[in-house]
Amino acid sequence: MRPSSPLIVRPTRRLSGRVRLPGDKSLSHRALLFSALADGDSTVRNCLAAGVTDAMIDCLRDLGVEITTIDGAREKGAATADLHIRGRGLRGCVAPDRPLFCRGSATTMRLLAGVLACQSFESILDGSDRLRKRPMDRVVEPLKSKGANIITENGNAPLSFSPSRIVPSVHELPVASAQVKSALLLAGLYTSGSTTVTEPHASRDHTERLLRCMGLPLDSHTDAKGRHMVTLPDGTDRLPPLDMRIPGDPSSAAFLLVAGLLLPDAQVTVEDLCLNPGRIGLIEVLQSMGADLTVSNVGESNGEPTGSVTARTGNLQGTGVSGSVVARMIDEFPIFAVVSTQAHGITTVSGAKELRLKESDRIDALADELNRMGAGMVTLADGFVVKGPKRLRGAKVNARGDHRLAMSLIIAGLIADGETVVEGADVIHDSFPHFPEIMAGLGADLRW
Ligand code: S3P
Repeated sequence: MRPSSPLIVRPTRRLSGRVRLPGDKSLSHRALLFSALADGDSTVRNCLAAGVTDAMIDCLRDLGVEITTIDGAREKGAATADLHIRGRGLRGCVAPDRPLFCRGSATTMRLLAGVLACQSFESILDGSDRLRKRPMDRVVEPLKSKGANIITENGNAPLSFSPSRIVPSVHELPVASAQVKSALLLAGLYTSGSTTVTEPHASRDHTERLLRCMGLPLDSHTDAKGRHMVTLPDGTDRLPPLDMRIPGDPSSAAFLLVAGLLLPDAQVTVEDLCLNPGRIGLIEVLQSMGADLTVSNVGESNGEPTGSVTARTGNLQGTGVSGSVVARMIDEFPIFAVVSTQAHGITTVSGAKELRLKESDRIDALADELNRMGAGMVTLADGFVVKGPKRLRGAKVNARGDHRLAMSLIIAGLIADGETVVEGADVIHDSFPHFPEIMAGLGADLRW
């Protein structure tokens, strides 16, 4: 049983320690799905065990994929799982006898859309009321131009797939999106002929790296204007099985590292993180603001750069964030908003309209909740402005069904004066169920 909300957070001076985190969310989704489509048995270690990855596992099981934990049953509530996945091959999944339920996971829905569009059976993808409100036309329309037969509810889930002839295609995405790019590349696996996707800026390239590890000759480059292009020259008959260990999630680490920078007496190291270039925008921006953040023990795992990151207390200067770095820190703006309240001077985020289409409208939701604590955040159509530093005060705030908002408000509570009550904080379960325990282990004063 997960604890019920709310979470009570009290000011904390000191935070210290070294931790390892559950596997990266994006990599866990891809490892599960690509293993399911492989010919043979895959092993995936340190897979994230959370609401969003449970959604992917449930859907794959409904498609006939056998997924078992390696050392007996997954201990209820464990943060990670070592999994054994019996692949069914690209064309071996079975027709599901009910709609595939993606819960609140947009990654599950958009990645699976690329695969289901290419099957010889009918299927339906559905999700929670919240997921039903998020835009799916961005993945459905390009898949349709690739020949897919998909019916939507005015561009939203449920999505109904029926068999079709998938053809070679060239796509120009209006907004950088790793989910849409991945869905198209997955459909490319079923295409005789090439599939090309161009984005205005490079998004995370986990799909490309993993498919390369599986032997596929993807070609990618960024042009002089910063546009990023990737081509899968031809489909394939088979994917080989995977044997991989997933490094820690840098987006989850962001909360711990920011706490390490903002609390008065802190030093926190997060070991063995995925440091994919498409994921380290926040680290780069924080360093440019003067943060004491160091990267060590760099290595590589299944084509992904890895390393440990240490954060120490220090002063930060305000900055401007826009352009290509936005895509490379797209999930970090909730915690970056907290950072901006403590930086000296003005911090502006622009070119980040996508934030309005995440688990919540992250521009309005962040401003509403952080302003209850005295942040003085001003919203823009495509970002926000904060003049810091602000002395935050404890308040009753609400996570609004958004896991990253919940964790950001908890960090804000640690640096605020007085007590902060985060209502609906159990939504943390979606991506980082053990966040409160890990924070408490480092010295944070919080309790359910
Ligand atoms: C993800 C891509 C991003 C990110 C999401 C995970 C992925 O979404 O926000 O949390 O795993 O591909 P977009 O593709 O919508 O930018």
